[in-house]
Amino acid sequence: MTARSSLTVVLAAGEGTRMRSSLPKVLHPVANQSLLAHVLRAAPNGPGTRLAVVIGPDHQAVADEARKVRPDAETFVQRERLGTAHAVLAAREAIARGADDLLFVFGDTPLITAETFERLRAPLKNGAALTVLGFRAADPTGYGRLLMQGDRLVAIREHADASAEERKVTLCNAGVMAFDGKTALKILDKIGNANSKGEYYLVDAVTIARDMGLEAVVIETNEDEVRGINTKAQLAEAEGVMQARLRKVAMEAGVTLIAPETIFLAADTAFGKDVTIEPFVVIGPGVSIGDGAVIHSFSHIVQSTIGKNASVGPYARLRPGATLGDSVHIGNFVEIKASVLEAGAKANHLSYIGDAEVGANTNIGAGTITCNYDGFFKHKTIIGTGAFVGTNSSLVAPVKIGAGAYIGSGSVITKDVPDDAMAVERSQQSTREGGAKRYREIKMKQKNKQL
Ligand code: UD1
Ligand code: CA
Repeated sequence: MTARSSLTVVLAAGEGTRMRSSLPKVLHPVANQSLLAHVLRAAPNGPGTRLAVVIGPDHQAVADEARKVRPDAETFVQRERLGTAHAVLAAREAIARGADDLLFVFGDTPLITAETFERLRAPLKNGAALTVLGFRAADPTGYGRLLMQGDRLVAIREHADASAEERKVTLCNAGVMAFDGKTALKILDKIGNANSKGEYYLVDAVTIARDMGLEAVVIETNEDEVRGINTKAQLAEAEGVMQARLRKVAMEAGVTLIAPETIFLAADTAFGKDVTIEPFVVIGPGVSIGDGAVIHSFSHIVQSTIGKNASVGPYARLRPGATLGDSVHIGNFVEIKASVLEAGAKANHLSYIGDAEVGANTNIGAGTITCNYDGFFKHKTIIGTGAFVGTNSSLVAPVKIGAGAYIGSGSVITKDVPDDAMAVERSQQSTREGGAKRYREIKMKQKNKQL
């Protein structure tokens, strides 16, 4: 049996006025991904699938987002908002090129899943002309009602056009529909605008299909999956549903979430085995956490890679480009940005490490700051393996600290320090030199033992 080809048309031309935002509605984020990205990721993908997004005029940012998520996406502009059927036909050119299955979905329903698209397509294989996704609404006000005769779908009535009797129906139209490509355009072209709003309603396809002697079928899902986002309050509700899903998936994959409801994840967070996350942790996009790592409370992590058995926090901040090797320890009030810390490196207290490379097993003392910015440009700090940076040191970049070097506490390092050298700040040289000498002595003893 050959797989059926598909074209998914995502309707995203809405203004989203009720969001009261200058950002187009479908670009608002849930779990750090735009509403549109969620829908595009759930839509059929891979060989034999095509995707079109219908956008409003002046919504270039929506087109850009669509292509970022799905480089194969075509975009079509709906110049006037004359209704959902009119919006679908803005993509007529793509529809006319033909596909076995046509899927229409709204860009503001981010909780829809790939499985639901597959369930919707199934009846088309068996000869149905169209399938409608339905759900039982706790409060059906505002939704189109699915009017059934037994288990046959005969019409969808928009709330505004429904009789008092019809309004009692709680089985509602989720807005996602699948059409058999052979008859779709014939049906769509017959949709008129004789209703209370004077709009071309996609839902009228049901009655038209029936009149043509074709079959229309309902597939049911739960309300959570088809929540449409119109307001910031609904955006927050969707975030709640999405977070609950992400936490569940993480726990099913073996991640220990000590207080799941306090932990925020991104849709793309990647976990190794036996990861533990303590309460009140926020994880943004682009984070991967290696096997056995522990993220302690109140840490905030974005676009970072955390190695196996690493320990982060409490109160750590990992900003974009933080790459922690295996068994790295990042402690409280430490901020890391665009830096690589190799295996076993430690920065346990009160530090800023930005634009740096820190060698394996190097210890960064409390209060160490990489002074990466000179007011004009960012510079790099490169620290070799096994170095010791004493507390409260400022490493003024660009600067290199050699492998095994010792930096006395309170130092302001402005020049490169060679491998195994000691460097101390002049004004308090004698005190620091004492520390440096002790460090040296211990190192020597360790070395001698190894000999
Ligand atoms: C729609 C359905 C309703 C369903 C509900 C589910 C129709 C006529 N009604 O109603 O049966 O219960 O969704 O949430 O389909 N859009 C465009 N261009 C237009 C009009 C709409 O792109 O000209 C897009 C909107 O951006 C939105 C979607 O289509 O993403 C739905 O439009 P909206 O006006 O929100 O329809 P509802 O009244 O919610
Ligand atoms: Ca809507």
